[in-house]
Amino acid sequence: MKEKAKAKSYAKIIWFGEHSVVYEKPAIALPLYNVDVHTSITTNTNGQTIECRYFDGPVNEMTDNLKGIRVLIHELLTIFNALDLNFHLKIESKIPSERGMGSSAATAVAIVRVFFNLFDVPLSRDRLLKLADIEEKITHGNPSGLDTATASSETPVWFIRNRVNHQIAINLPRPSLVIADSGIKGKTGEAVSMVHDRLVDQPELATPLIDQLGQIADKARLALRSSDEALLGKLMTQSQSNLAQLGVSTKTLDLFCKIAVQHGALGAKLTGSGLGGCMISIVENQIDAQKVATALRQAGATQTWIQSFKNYKFSIGDSNGNLVN
Ligand code: MEV
Repeated sequence: MKEKAKAKSYAKIIWFGEHSVVYEKPAIALPLYNVDVHTSITTNTNGQTIECRYFDGPVNEMTDNLKGIRVLIHELLTIFNALDLNFHLKIESKIPSERGMGSSAATAVAIVRVFFNLFDVPLSRDRLLKLADIEEKITHGNPSGLDTATASSETPVWFIRNRVNHQIAINLPRPSLVIADSGIKGKTGEAVSMVHDRLVDQPELATPLIDQLGQIADKARLALRSSDEALLGKLMTQSQSNLAQLGVSTKTLDLFCKIAVQHGALGAKLTGSGLGGCMISIVENQIDAQKVATALRQAGATQTWIQSFKNYKFSIGDSNGNLVN
């Protein structure tokens, strides 16, 4: 075992397939390299303490909203047969919480990684995702696994629950995504149950909406192969219409989508669970990206990010070592 260790993970943006991914439809999601979580752990201390933006103190006194993290840490200490280990764990996150950017999943991923680094034990991707899902199940109830798969990835992912978790290539040298935070907390658990209830109560309305979201993700994958940014924009706007009909959009997110398109975006949608959180739009070039971001901030976005696709690293390949597209 080392005396100290560090690890990191990324925020995620779901491009296509939120909610429908819970029902085993395909999804496409992207890690955001410049919005990350860093964990550091040191054992040169007394007791077991944690320092993050919500809590600073002994692990066993963590409040119930952090129960997922507390249980995850206990599981990790059990795995390493180190329940009495003295440690101080620091979590530094640039991810706004409860905004559909995968803050809890990224935190869980960075915690699992830092403990495996500390004990100097190799960590397979499968094991990492299973462990991080311990926290996600407590925090969100019925996670598809997409958030942890993306927070731990260096490249965009093509994901089907329990079946497919590929890293995909994106060849879009000019366009960017503009992301805007509505400043309103998203409610993942509530939004996931709302969609579930609609499927049970109004299957004739909700089932086709979910099926279409899956078909849109399939079409988006083809549009990515032909680098068709205009079609990607249209598919985003179609997704937004379905998500709104499922009841998970908000007036602010609808307004942000409209403003983005009015200022030159090719399409826009909410990202993540909805009921608050963030909107994403695709723009053709950097000039449009600045225009759209400025308009969104003027309309009340608390923060905006511009994510260019050309920064994605494609040298890693999928879990079998192959790059797919
Ligand atoms: C939340 O970031 C994404 C949802 O699709 C839920 C999930 O995939 O677990 C709404």
